[in-house]
Amino acid sequence: MFLFVYFLILIGSTTASNTTDFTKYVNLFIGTEGDVPGSAFRGGNFFPGATLPFGAVKVGIDTTRYNTSYAANAGYLPITHSNVTAITLHNISGTGGASTYGQIPQMPLTNLTGVNLLDNLTYMQPRTVEDVASVGYFRTHLGNGVTAEMSAGMHVGMMRYRYPEGRGRYVLVDVSHFLPSAGKKEQWYGFNGFVFKGRGWLTGKGIRMGFWRGVVMGLGILGMRCIVKVGQQVRGDYRVYFCGHFDSVPIQSQLFWGKYTDPFRPNTTGVVPTFTNASSIQGGALNYQYAHQIGALFEFSPNISTVTSKVGISWISTEKACQFLDEIPTWDLNAMMKAVKNEWNEQVLSKIDATSTNET
Ligand SMILES: *[C@@H]1O[C@H](CO)[C@@H](O)[C@H](O)[C@H]1NC(C)=O
Ligand SMILES: *[C@@H]1O[C@H](CO)[C@@H](O)[C@H](O)[C@H]1NC(C)=O
Ligand SMILES: *[C@@H]1O[C@H](CO)[C@@H](O)[C@H](O)[C@H]1NC(C)=O
Ligand SMILES: *[C@@H]1O[C@H](CO)[C@@H](O)[C@H](O)[C@H]1NC(C)=O
Ligand SMILES: *[C@@H]1O[C@H](CO)[C@@H](O)[C@H](O)[C@H]1NC(C)=O
Ligand SMILES: *[C@@H]1O[C@H](CO)[C@@H](O)[C@H](O)[C@H]1NC(C)=O
Ligand SMILES: *[C@@H]1O[C@H](CO)[C@@H](O)[C@H](O)[C@H]1NC(C)=O
Ligand SMILES: *[C@@H]1O[C@H](CO)[C@@H](O)[C@H](O)[C@H]1NC(C)=O
Ligand SMILES: *[C@@H]1O[C@H](CO)[C@@H](O)[C@H](O)[C@H]1NC(C)=O
Repeated sequence: MFLFVYFLILIGSTTASNTTDFTKYVNLFIGTEGDVPGSAFRGGNFFPGATLPFGAVKVGIDTTRYNTSYAANAGYLPITHSNVTAITLHNISGTGGASTYGQIPQMPLTNLTGVNLLDNLTYMQPRTVEDVASVGYFRTHLGNGVTAEMSAGMHVGMMRYRYPEGRGRYVLVDVSHFLPSAGKKEQWYGFNGFVFKGRGWLTGKGIRMGFWRGVVMGLGILGMRCIVKVGQQVRGDYRVYFCGHFDSVPIQSQLFWGKYTDPFRPNTTGVVPTFTNASSIQGGALNYQYAHQIGALFEFSPNISTVTSKVGISWISTEKACQFLDEIPTWDLNAMMKAVKNEWNEQVLSKIDATSTNET
């Protein structure tokens, strides 16, 4: 067991005010690059996505990384060095070390030709322009024409996908999504359960093995290097329960499963998804580390150009995860983003107001 605590406190005069928007001074991309510009080589451990102070979710993109010899933990990779494989709600920022977490993933797709839903390399998307991030908000423009925006509540992530005209409107939820890591044996994924509550709803749990349990996540002022982190490293399995839905009912919802593949030496030859119309699916027995991969595919009407999804996460139960959805009654991502900015201003940023005229 390994315990670490460190504090880095920025001290300034405290003239708290509702009216000053300090979030405009926050650059979430600080810390996402290493010493090679545009890449996360030797650095880039910071998370630039959306989160609340002390929030349980961190909503952002997961990216490809073929060279796992460098850490880039929580390490969002810049546009030139990676593709997007999913939008996830669970991340750790700034520790360095192997990639961890990355649940519960969604990926907006427009065309399934040539796509193997069990192989992220067949549907990953390049980005067409630089990502946009501000406190409580993240936006990425995918090569398939989808603009994906996201914001974060305390235990809930909201994702909004704007699809281009004339193409399909799909959302893939791959519960077996596994971040490219340094090949640590203890980081296998385990059992995954999955249930449809209705055509536009899904609940379930994923069990991951060998991560940090007891790590307090979501602490710190992102992008300003003012961090308080308390971590307790306990290697063991942990469960993530989730509950999600969409703002419109999909025209088709299907679950699928596929053979286990070694996440670190994957051989996807002949591994294709088997679809089922069943309303629930399981990847394997509890704590069985070679569980089947499982997921769900939602298809939306061509008449709808924007699909919004909310997903709640709990470490206790799917019921809790569903209850957490009540935290965010709105489907309005902009309103949610404003609320997140207010939280950061009131709870954190106003306390470090330097009342200086020096903008830097
Ligand atoms: C901030 O606004 C809230 C209501 O929106 C008010 O109750 C509170 O007093 C304000 N705080 C300051 C420091 O102005
Ligand atoms: C992987 O990244 C490291 C930098 O950390 C670099 O030294 C090494 O050459 C890279 N390997 C490949 C195959 O690109
Ligand atoms: C979340 O963390 C994973 C693992 O470290 C990383 O691959 C992914 O890019 C991170 N996402 C963001 C937005 O930082
Ligand atoms: C990103 O995807 C494109 C295909 O869409 C591919 O040509 C490119 O090599 C990929 N790059 C990375 C870093 O994954
Ligand atoms: C999907 O992609 C295939 C191959 O690139 C293309 O032939 C087809 O027209 C696309 N379908 C749609 C609906 O865009
Ligand atoms: C994507 O696929 C590669 C190769 O199969 C695998 O190493 C990686 O872990 C996968 N990433 C995710 C996020 O599932
Ligand atoms: C990959 O899997 C296929 C089908 O099971 C098998 O024929 C092939 O030998 C495997 N390749 C490697 C490199 O293990
Ligand atoms: C699921 O149901 C639809 C509509 O009845 C049917 O077309 C499809 O073949 C079914 N899929 C499977 C895998 O049974
Ligand atoms: C899309 O809109 C058209 C025209 O209003 C309608 O005929 C069609 O049924 C709609 N399709 C779906 C899938 O809702």
